[in-house]
Amino acid sequence: MCGIVGYIGNKQAQPVLVSGLKRLEYRGYDSAGIATLNQKGTATLLREKGKVAELEKKVATHKTADQVGIGHTRWATHGAPSKRNAHPHTVGDIYLVHNGIIENYQDLKAELIKHDYDFKSDTDTEVLTALIDYLYKDAASLLDAVSGALKMVVGAYGIAVLSVKNPEEIVVARKGSPLIVGVGDDEVFVASDGSALVGYTDQVVYLHDGEIGLCTREGVQLYDIDANTVDAKVEKLEMDLQSIQKKGFDHFLLKEIYEQPESLRSTLSGRVNTDTMTAKLGGLNMSDEELRAIENVMVIGCGTAYYAGLQAGYLVEQFVGDVTFNSYIASELRYRSFAVPKNTVALIVSQSGETADTLACLMELKRRGVRTLGVVNAVGSTIAREVDGGVYVHVGAEISVASTKAFTSQVAAIMIFGLMVAQAKGVGVKEISDYIRELELLPSEIEKCIVAHDKEMERLAKKYAQYEHALYIGRDTLYPVALEGALKMKEVGYVHAEGYAAGELKHGPIALIDDTFFEVFYLQDNWLYEKAQSNLIEMNARGAHAIVITDTDKRIAAEHVIRVNTKLHLLTPLVFNVLSQLFAYYVAVMRGNDVDQPRNLAKSVTVE
Ligand code: G6P
Repeated sequence: MCGIVGYIGNKQAQPVLVSGLKRLEYRGYDSAGIATLNQKGTATLLREKGKVAELEKKVATHKTADQVGIGHTRWATHGAPSKRNAHPHTVGDIYLVHNGIIENYQDLKAELIKHDYDFKSDTDTEVLTALIDYLYKDAASLLDAVSGALKMVVGAYGIAVLSVKNPEEIVVARKGSPLIVGVGDDEVFVASDGSALVGYTDQVVYLHDGEIGLCTREGVQLYDIDANTVDAKVEKLEMDLQSIQKKGFDHFLLKEIYEQPESLRSTLSGRVNTDTMTAKLGGLNMSDEELRAIENVMVIGCGTAYYAGLQAGYLVEQFVGDVTFNSYIASELRYRSFAVPKNTVALIVSQSGETADTLACLMELKRRGVRTLGVVNAVGSTIAREVDGGVYVHVGAEISVASTKAFTSQVAAIMIFGLMVAQAKGVGVKEISDYIRELELLPSEIEKCIVAHDKEMERLAKKYAQYEHALYIGRDTLYPVALEGALKMKEVGYVHAEGYAAGELKHGPIALIDDTFFEVFYLQDNWLYEKAQSNLIEMNARGAHAIVITDTDKRIAAEHVIRVNTKLHLLTPLVFNVLSQLFAYYVAVMRGNDVDQPRNLAKSVTVE
């Protein structure tokens, strides 16, 4: 949530900062700004409301040769999106960009007002900036002032700080909000996310919580909060330029939908074997005995990651035997008085590995001594580092705010985990072999489905794009598909869409059906076909504008029927889900929405 960049070196800083911000724009995009310093310590601060493109226009008319600077693209928390609230904030000698939330900012503000500080914005960030400025008056260095301020702060932060008193350094720090330092030849880059560094350097240092970094042209020195030095571990950034470009697609969302066969292959690679009918994940750090002992699995996530957990749970419980698999919304779970049964393992599902609510659940479960396993995409992210073990889904960079390829791979990864538990518990090959076989088939089946139905989904979107309401309905393993389908439509289509369990229709939502709604109904030719079909008939009797997505060739009464031809049976829901993604994408395009950066949303939500 929000993006931070910084640069100190021999290049002109402004273009480096703006290009970094563009790459990070998916993290927040309601205002943006950069501050640069020349060698005499004169600052140039440029800020604009709106997207980075607005800032870029401003930079074009205010060019500087400065070689030191920081920048930010914002997703508003404290204070509305506006130029006044945009970062960098400046107070006295200090310029600062911040991700996260300072919880005790009001108390700190009241104190600073007593020392004659006045505030121009509504943000918590400006208060932190003033606090550093205040402490720097008596501190020996910017580093000391920052460390002093951070000791007084309650909350989460990733920050980058400049002082006009010393234009040869940037101080950075993190607690609960990611921060990476890229090290080049006589230059150092700062970013909240590796994608801003791709193409500049692949040598990076990931700050840990509580660490402060002093960046100069020569490199970075890390300190703990008490200013004791800490060794910086330089790692290789595993990201390439290709993965963060649109590769000829109009939008990242469409590219990422199309990437699913490939990204899923990466998730499955070396993990499922149809010769031996086995499944294996390398990084769980669990023995067979420990897997055998599992009686309860809690799957925790937010948004699409939560639905991935729900989807996987429905599938895994079909074969795993005597193990309960329950999914939880992280923002709810973290404040519930929940009991953890014995022999529980918690799966922490997150594309970014940084979501604040999910991370909070992870920390609470660790505190209680529960074994935690990550299902994460972003390598080296906070969740990936904090869990006891886990699996990377390896889908590559997911840039579009709405999550697509991560969902499919999260479901697959959790299924592989479920298969391992089943194997350890002695569930027979007969019971699990169809799942393994279908996992292997899934990438090509998704590919086939995209090719067969892309144009059809586009045509359909044209027909339904003007509707303001939608119901998405499914039963059993298709219920999570309905929830995720409705979420996609809300996120990118801005259509009021609700996901419902088909059997629940008669308990309320059926009252909604009228000509302002369309209904997406997922219908699989399986043991629940007749039951689900009755729900469809009930809807049709009330004048529904039903779009049925189905794998059957039986006769179906509906306004539109999309017939999917697939060899799958158990994993068909994952193929249907790809059609929901395409439908939402085309509706968003037809409605003229900002597909990759939908209004009010952010990709990585590192605040509560
Ligand atoms: C945000 C994103 C969603 C995502 C959710 C969880 O809301 O917009 O696409 O599903 O966060 O993110 P995570 O990175 O934890 O999977």
